[in-house]
Amino acid sequence: MAATRKTAKKTGTKKKARSREDATSMAARQRDISVSEFFTKNRHLLGFDNPQKALLTTIKEAVDNSLDACEEAGILPELMIEIMEMGPERYRVAIQDNGPGIVKAQVPKIFGKLLYGSKFHRLKQQRGQQGIGISAAGMYGMLTTGKPVRIFSRTGKRKQAHQFEVAVDTKKNAPVVSKDDVVEWPVDHGTRVEIELEATYKKGRRSVDDYIEQTALANPHATIFYYPPKGEAVQYPRVSPELPKEALEIKPHPYGVELGILMRMMKETQGKHLRSALQQDFSRVSGAVADRIIEEAKLSPKARPKSLNANQLEALFKAIPKVKVLAPPTACLSPIGEELLARGLDTRIPSDFFTAVTRPPAVYRGNPFQIEVGLVYGGEQPADELVTLYRFANRVPLQYQQSACAISKSVLGTDWKKYGLQQSRGALPTAPMSVVVHIASVWVPFTSESKEAVASYPEIIKEIRLALQEAGRRLATFVRKRRREADELKKRAYIERYIPHIGDALGDILGFSERKKANTVSNLKTILERSRKMG
Ligand SMILES: Nc1ncnc2c1ncn2[C@@H]1O[C@H](COP(=O)(O)OP(=O)(O)OP(=O)(O)O)[C@@H](O)[C@H]1O
Ligand SMILES: [Mg+2]
Repeated sequence: MAATRKTAKKTGTKKKARSREDATSMAARQRDISVSEFFTKNRHLLGFDNPQKALLTTIKEAVDNSLDACEEAGILPELMIEIMEMGPERYRVAIQDNGPGIVKAQVPKIFGKLLYGSKFHRLKQQRGQQGIGISAAGMYGMLTTGKPVRIFSRTGKRKQAHQFEVAVDTKKNAPVVSKDDVVEWPVDHGTRVEIELEATYKKGRRSVDDYIEQTALANPHATIFYYPPKGEAVQYPRVSPELPKEALEIKPHPYGVELGILMRMMKETQGKHLRSALQQDFSRVSGAVADRIIEEAKLSPKARPKSLNANQLEALFKAIPKVKVLAPPTACLSPIGEELLARGLDTRIPSDFFTAVTRPPAVYRGNPFQIEVGLVYGGEQPADELVTLYRFANRVPLQYQQSACAISKSVLGTDWKKYGLQQSRGALPTAPMSVVVHIASVWVPFTSESKEAVASYPEIIKEIRLALQEAGRRLATFVRKRRREADELKKRAYIERYIPHIGDALGDILGFSERKKANTVSNLKTILERSRKMG
């Protein structure tokens, strides 16, 4: 430093003093960041990082919502998905459902405000979780085309249908309504969402076409009409006439709660005393269990939860894992089920063998989840390529970030050679096969807001592995049997080819007539045939 100053003095080039910030000047710049401003800059976090993905994400968000709404209202879903080309890199998508519709007063906030929804505060197996999906899609549309989202909604036969146009004011994260009219709309109830956006439409892997086909596979109770921008319309009629078993909402399990959350829960509880608060706000906490936790924390059951101090709350938090609490109830989960999953795979991918495994429910961080695996082997699937992996979370196909996902990691980490398949190190197996893995949970731990990959909780990895192993064992029985049969056939063909020669040679050695020789050959063939029939 001293040397530098000396040189500066010598050369006479005085360094210009840089004006530094101080706390006051910094304070002038410190201000709120609205969530919509944040996601406008970070749109990749929501799945809008390129035009092809933007199209998929927009459709996916609307379809998720439609299916969730139909199921919540106990309606067998019938969806219409249209993609219209409006110009170069410009599309208009429309997603229409026969769901319960949306109450007029809620429409602006749902479509014009990020982090507004009915699902975030509930522990329930649903496709949506965050309250960002559809408003973010609308925001992307507005940003790239200047067009607001158009919504049609009707909540019943006797109610009027409404048409809205809504955009997000990103600075304020608040809705801007440019149209709000009563219209004629010839449906009894439902919602139609139209978004114009900058996008590209491509066929093949990770395409919207693929996504819709996979959605139909994981939702055998839904009928989907799909109108792509070019080519023929596609119809996926429902495979099952029944709605999935309704997933019930649950309360948080004490083992999964974090200290900060526990503090907030105790502040907001309706329970008058600590004992009743614990009982009311957590699942599986009976009076006796609450007593044990309180005793362990050296607190009083009559203590007022709202007036517990930080030390007392921490004692309560530390007491929880010391007390045995039953695992969370599992009626909150609604897997596809082995039979429907197998049937769905069988109707969509012709094969020589298929099987499905639904594991019993398990728990990560206090959240119940359940894993299902389906395998389809043979048919027209290419024998010399890596297997195709389909990932699903709460019946939603996941198409991006495969390598970051706990599902792919578990499939890669399984030793498929044990089950008669070829597999290079660290790769998917090579076989004419498709693998389906589904995680159903009250809260799927996604690695980002775009809901593309499942986080690697050890409990989740373990369950996926167990399901894959069970399906793998069943597959191995089939593959081995088929290999044995093929070997047998080969041997038989070989013997059959040489029987006439053996018969001739035997006849020559024994001095048989030509007729006797022919008889010998025919006898040998009969013996071979009988042995085949006897297995
Ligand atoms: N088609 C629809 N029919 C009925 N209600 C809907 C429909 N679409 C959206 N909603 C309501 O609007 C809310 C907000 O939807 P949005 O997609 O923004 O968030 P989310 O589905 O709750 O969570 P996520 O961000 O994970 O998608 C939903 O929670 C739901 O209550
Ligand atoms: Mg949603």
